[in-house]
This record gives sequence, C-alpha cells and structure tokens, in this order.
Amino acid sequence: MLQGSSWRLALSAAAAAACVAAGPCSAAAADSSYPADLGPASLAAAAKGWPPPPPASGEHPAPARTAAPWPPALKTGYRLTVARCGRCHTPARVFNHRYAEPEGKNVPDKEDVIASLKADHPGFFQAPGVWQIEADVWKLCVERMAAMPASGIKPGEGRTIWLFLVAEGAPRKLGEGASAWKTLRESLLKRFKAERPGRYRELEAVDGL
Ligand code: HEC
Repeated sequence: MLQGSSWRLALSAAAAAACVAAGPCSAAAADSSYPADLGPASLAAAAKGWPPPPPASGEHPAPARTAAPWPPALKTGYRLTVARCGRCHTPARVFNHRYAEPEGKNVPDKEDVIASLKADHPGFFQAPGVWQIEADVWKLCVERMAAMPASGIKPGEGRTIWLFLVAEGAPRKLGEGASAWKTLRESLLKRFKAERPGRYRELEAVDGL
C-alpha cells in the first residue's frame, strides 16, 4: 500500500502532467507554483551576464570562469534537463530554484565546502529564499522526481542530470555569479509575493519558497 505522502505525490504529479498536456490549468486547480516558475525557462536567460561554466574541476572556490564551450557530458546533461525536467513543470522551476549543491568529490568534501562558505559568505545562509545550500540537495531532488510515476527519467539519466545541475549551478549561485543570482531570486520572490500572495504565504509557512 502507498504511504500517505506517496499518494499525494502521485496525485500531484498526475495533476501537473495533466496541466502540461491540457494547456493552462483551470482556475479551480490548486496553485502548485513556485517562485522559480516565474523565472526564465532557458539557462541562457537565467544566467544572463554570467556565462555558463566550463567543466567542474572539483576545486572550490572556482577559478575565473570563462565562456568556454561545455564538454559533451554537460551538453548531454543540459539537453536531458530540458527534456526530462521540463515535462511536468517547465525547466524554469529547475534553473531558478534556490537549491545549490557545491562541487566536490563526495558528501564530506561538499560539507567542507559548505563550512568554508559559512565562514566566507555568511549571507548565503541568511537568505533562505535565495539559497538552500546542502551537500546532496540536487541529488535527492532528482531522485525524488525520477521516482514519480511515469517520470520518464531512466536510471543513468538521473545521474547525468544531477552532475549537470551541480556543475552548472554551483558557480552561478555560489561562485562568481552569486550576486547576479541574488538579484534574480529576489526579483522572483517579490513578483511571486505580489502575484500569488496565498501561495507565497503557504510556501513561506513550510520554508518551501
Ligand atoms: C512526473 C512529473 C515530474 C517530472 C518528470 C519532474 N518533476 Fe519536478 N516536480 C513535480 C511535481 C508534481 C512537483 C511539486 C511536488 C513536489 O515537490 O514533490 C515538482 C517540484 C519540483 C521542484 C520544487 C521542489 C521544492 O520543494 O521546492 C523542483 C526543484 C523540481 N521539481 C525539479 C525537477 C527536476 C530537476 C526534474 C528532472 C530531474 C523534475 N523536477 C522532473 C513533477 C515532476
């Protein structure tokens, strides 16, 4: 038997998929949007003024990033993210979400990065609507999405997407792109609060913005 939460998950996944299939959701449908949904659905626009990074080197803080072309694994990761993670909601929810997972070889390594970020950039941890920094936050998110009924995400694909989200997102949100990221997120939160006050309060109450 399904647990209560799996039930709700299955139902909301079905509802989200139905919305995409049928066009805009009816006004009667509960608002299940997130601030990230209001942002750009393309990475080029989300990272405006901040060129996507070259491959993750594993070091941190990242050395100066250039607009060097992505290696094949990141290109595949980007393509899969748009295709798979844009199926039930748009890729905007992914590119503009507050989740930020640092680069690193493993969880302890990433915890070390988080400890130095806490020392060097305390502001990252005082704006919960802008950053949610955890050592495996994208990994767990991708696993949760892939486990939804009919997610269409094959096992190997989830890993490729996860590695892409870390390599792309860490420098953009925690590295040199951090102040542009803060500006973008704050503008999305402001708009969300103005346009969808009920949903804003609902998410705020559960620390879910
Ligand atoms: C089968 C449909 C489906 C697919 C495919 C899907 N999502 Fe989702 N996603 C949902 C639903 C439904 C929600 C809202 C409920 C929830 O968070 O569990 C959601 C919520 C989210 C959230 C917001 C979570 C939060 O708590 O703030 C993020 C981020 C996200 N998805 C990322 C992704 C990524 C990354 C992928 C691709 C690996 C993906 N989604 C693929 C259905 C899907």
